Amino acid sequence: MPGPDVVRAKDLPERVRIYEVGPRDGLQNEPTVVPAATKAELIRRLAAAGLGTIETTSFVSPRWVPQLADAAEVLALLGPSGTGRDRPVLVPNERGLDRAVAAGVGAIAIFGSATETFAQRNLGRSVAESVAMFRPVVARARDLGLWVRAYVSMCFGDPWEGPVRVEQAADACAALMDLGCDELSLGDTIGVATTGHVVALLDALEGRGLGVERVAVHFHDTYGQALANTMAALRRGVTVVDASAGGLGGCPYAGSATGNLATEDLVWALEGAGVATGVDLDALVATSRWLSAELNRPSPSAVVTALAPTP
Ligand code: HMG
Ligand code: MG
Repeated sequence: MPGPDVVRAKDLPERVRIYEVGPRDGLQNEPTVVPAATKAELIRRLAAAGLGTIETTSFVSPRWVPQLADAAEVLALLGPSGTGRDRPVLVPNERGLDRAVAAGVGAIAIFGSATETFAQRNLGRSVAESVAMFRPVVARARDLGLWVRAYVSMCFGDPWEGPVRVEQAADACAALMDLGCDELSLGDTIGVATTGHVVALLDALEGRGLGVERVAVHFHDTYGQALANTMAALRRGVTVVDASAGGLGGCPYAGSATGNLATEDLVWALEGAGVATGVDLDALVATSRWLSAELNRPSPSAVVTALAPTP
């Protein structure tokens, strides 16, 4: 398959770590439950394509997200992880941590909200009550030597509350990072961010001692801004980017959320700019093509469509 012409963009970092979220953010939103064996095959293929960090599944309530109720089964099918940090999983509460630890995970992600409405809809509690729920989870995870990421959803806008002020998002980020998390991921759950807003939030976080070396970005592509926003974050010094193979994704508790930034679109852009990702674009596109057939619908990724159009 053709690749982009490579011309080094000197204002971008030399290397970017892609944090692949397709098996979790993508498959949590599928109308049907994908079999555990297909999920495990997807994760194996993504790892073989060079994705070193793959968010594998969620140990949330199966009543809330039945699509990922088979979390333990998927991890059992995969067998022991390589580095222990290569397969993070979402964990909302102590019950979820018990299940994740029993499944042998080495890395977890908690997930809070910048807005009260989404905290209620996604976690059944207020922003402050969610921080209280996460506190013992992070403390015990750290005692166990697990790596911990903190997501903050609705960092830029919320479908019920409208635009979210930078200071409000920064407060939510600081509250979760103060629990002792290793990495922060800024969630644009409904894809409404634009580049100036992204840089303004990164500046505000830096002002609170949360520098870009601890921050990842997580853009959904509802308004086609995910790649532009990612590039703005990379120019501001971020080096960890969340993306989803084939552009799968969405949040079942945020109706207007569509897929994440497609990993293929990100890899094409970075490869062309001479930024190392370690990802084999051909193998990744082949994986998304295979997954499209499994899910019986075309990938929304522009690069997948260009390189491997649906017949
Ligand atoms: P709760 O407070 O226990 O509330 O759960 P509940 O009473 O609704 O609980 C329902 C049932 O689940 C109860 O069982 C609980 O015991 C059980 P029942 O009594 O009915 O038999 N339960 C559990 N079972 C297994 N594992 C668990 C667990 N916890 C409770 N861990 C909770 C509150 C937070 C767990 C629930 O609200 C929940 O699971 N929410 C998760 C929603 C979710 O996964 N959303 C998508 C992920 S977030 C996202 O996509 C955004 C992100 O991508 C970033 C971005 O884009 O912005 C990360
Ligand atoms: Mg998401």
